[in-house]
Amino acid sequence: MERSLSMELVRVTEAAAIASARWMGRGLKNEADDAATSAMRRVFDTIPMQGVVVIGEGEMDEAPMLYIGEELGLGNGGPTVDVAVDPLEGTNIVAAGGWNALAVLAIADRGNLLHAPDMYMNKLAVGPESVGKVDINASVTDNLRAVAKAKNKDIEDVVATILNRPRHQKIIDEIRASGARIKLINDGDVAGAINTAFDETGVDILFGMGGAPEGVIAAVGLKCLGGEIQGKLVPQNEAELERCTKMGLNVSQVFRMEHLVKGDDAIFAATGVTDGELLRGVQFKGTYAESHSLVMRAKSGTVRFVEGRHSLKKKPHLVMHD
Ligand code: FBP
Repeated sequence: MERSLSMELVRVTEAAAIASARWMGRGLKNEADDAATSAMRRVFDTIPMQGVVVIGEGEMDEAPMLYIGEELGLGNGGPTVDVAVDPLEGTNIVAAGGWNALAVLAIADRGNLLHAPDMYMNKLAVGPESVGKVDINASVTDNLRAVAKAKNKDIEDVVATILNRPRHQKIIDEIRASGARIKLINDGDVAGAINTAFDETGVDILFGMGGAPEGVIAAVGLKCLGGEIQGKLVPQNEAELERCTKMGLNVSQVFRMEHLVKGDDAIFAATGVTDGELLRGVQFKGTYAESHSLVMRAKSGTVRFVEGRHSLKKKPHLVMHD
């Protein structure tokens, strides 16, 4: 994979973020998602790579673009890669003008990303200090203790993040009983997982069930950061269970970093759509739009924060047209 691909890919998430940020707070999550998807798709056509979508907007018959199996990029001669996209991670967040919506993507050499089915995954994510010290099969309390020890703090100083859902009540109760603190999030567990690897976010560990595709994208981010995510698929019905069996996926298996993203190289790019702990959202300043992105490469471990100023005059497609 060429190093320069990282900067090319930021253009993709920037375009998606700017397009969907136009829909912030308008209560229209599908429109926000469509805007992100079309913008992302358009810029992919200019990227020198031979990509195939392994995690996308749905199966070919469900999604008009960025569907699983779709080929992306300029093709001929570019690196052959798997592509995982979430043009708008947090559709409800944008609709409500909330916190932590991202346009995000991940790539790895062809065959290296887990083709995760669109179903729930139970997740446990931590930053570098706690790698190898936590276990998704251990109790919540044991994992919190392990993180406290790894980070040399008291358990009362540990902050766990988790999606605010009734299905998580038992975990939330156990975190509270342990003395640790909680940051409940309404949506967006890719940001939740990635945040565990950045001290400035104040988050140490992510628990709970979210989308499996989001788990793979988060795994690429954490691989670049030296963190870790573990996941277990949680099919909700017979059809989902059958789907796992057909795909050769064992529902009692713990998917670890080496299963979620193989090989030593991968790239993660994200642009803030709305403000979050790590990235500011898109700001429209009249003549230009300002974007805040994060792009990282696993092989080199380089983490870049990229601020973009996009002229709305020279790029009129960035202006919203109803
Ligand atoms: P969308 O952008 O598809 O709405 O996903 C947002 C999200 O919060 C993810 O970050 C998370 O993995 C998943 O939804 C959780 O699903 P649910 O809302 O069913 O709990």
